[in-house]
Amino acid sequence: MSNEFDLTAWLKKTTETVNHSLDQLLPFEDVKPTTLHKAMRYSVFAGGKRVRPAILLASVDACGGNPESALPLACAVECIHTYSLIHDDLPAMDNDDFRRGRPTNHKVFGEGLAILAGDGLLTEAFALAAHWKAVTRYNHKDVMAELAYQAGSLQMVGGQAIDLESEGKAITREELKYIHERKTSALLCLSTRLGGMAADCTEEQLKALTDFGYKVGLAFQIIDDILDVTQSTEKLGKTAGKDVQEQKATYPALVGLEKSKQLAAELTKEAFDSLHIFNGKAVILEALAEKLLNRDH
Ligand code: IPE
Ligand code: IPE
Ligand code: MG
Ligand code: MG
Ligand code: MG
Repeated sequence: MSNEFDLTAWLKKTTETVNHSLDQLLPFEDVKPTTLHKAMRYSVFAGGKRVRPAILLASVDACGGNPESALPLACAVECIHTYSLIHDDLPAMDNDDFRRGRPTNHKVFGEGLAILAGDGLLTEAFALAAHWKAVTRYNHKDVMAELAYQAGSLQMVGGQAIDLESEGKAITREELKYIHERKTSALLCLSTRLGGMAADCTEEQLKALTDFGYKVGLAFQIIDDILDVTQSTEKLGKTAGKDVQEQKATYPALVGLEKSKQLAAELTKEAFDSLHIFNGKAVILEALAEKLLNRDH
């Protein structure tokens, strides 16, 4: 199915394009307040996998849209994701020293600036989205509402809140799914949906992309939980074994490693199924879902 598509080459090109756009669109380091802009750029350009922009641009492709016109949205989603990581690593949250192969933002710039760098990136995301050019079916109101909803207290931030409150507690599988769908699926779903909107997709396509985003997103966080237990800090570029240390509610902790792997594979299969309406045109999304399932970092 995805065998003939050269995902590695596509990802390399896409990552370069997204990095170039982010570099052009974010305030430069010599713009006052320079420390704040340095802190924002420090985490954005620390070498993340750029999964969300890739998913967004692959969704544009599946709907036959123009990827270039969607770049402001791809950059916006990466800014929101990077902000969420900076805050996730703070001592008051997961208390992590290492991220994307470097000391965490607060370790370098201090907690105050790390909080503000996150605030700056979140806000910048909306400014970037304002640069996008509206299409026939979707306008700026749709895109802004989507960004705010998926990043906000009902979704990503809400998931992070319950994740924190659940530390050290025995929670049900249903509650764990609630957390993971919000803290992680929401931004993956945001990515597929914004990609669809940028490509002026139909309602049916948007629904399929939404299903795909949620399924792949949940699988993504289950794999993240698995890798935390099975990989090294060096490989991950972030502290391994952190979830046990912080007594986090995770899939491996709740259902074991083997069952977690099985669930992630099942969700990926369900994600593939939701793409059937694209009649084989969603090759990049399919290849990405497979790669994310089998990733080692
Ligand atoms: C890490 O996301 C946080 C989760 C939601 C699991 P990524 O694994 O995409 O991190 P980067 O962007 O590559 O650093
Ligand atoms: C992070 O989940 C989710 C968000 C930042 C929204 P984790 O806490 O599992 O991510 P890592 O493992 O620190 O990257
Ligand atoms: Mg966390
Ligand atoms: Mg964390
Ligand atoms: Mg994790």
